[in-house]
Amino acid sequence: MNLIEAAIAARETAYAPYSGFKVGAALLAADGQVYSGCNVENVAYPEGTCAEAGAIAAMVRGGAREILELAVVADGPMPIPPCGGCRQKIAEFASAETVIIMARLSGEMTRMNLGELLPGRFRADHMTGDVP
Ligand code: THU
Repeated sequence: MNLIEAAIAARETAYAPYSGFKVGAALLAADGQVYSGCNVENVAYPEGTCAEAGAIAAMVRGGAREILELAVVADGPMPIPPCGGCRQKIAEFASAETVIIMARLSGEMTRMNLGELLPGRFRADHMTGDVP
């Protein structure tokens, strides 16, 4: 199963009764495993979580700490990019070169790397002054 197929499968399990907008994400980690997640909404809207956050939690639970590639899939009118918060979450475990695939169920897709999606990312060295 490739990353997009894994994201589509994860999307099927999404819990999105409020927006009706199901999202799936899947990532290839440095351990060679694919980890996936879906959005999980909550009646207290801000408590909902994005698909990417679920995939990252699964990766960390699996013992991996590096994202090589990540795909996000939804059924919107155009490929959806990770939200701003998820870009920062992905950045914790990825490099500026990490490829983010954005796809629709129809098969339309686009790709950008994380450095394009999140230029000027906040890094630990902004606090410490250490060279990254
Ligand atoms: N959503 C994601 O799961 N990932 C994104 O990157 C964008 C938005 C979810 C959150 C919410 O459940 C629904 O899509 C509508 O915003």
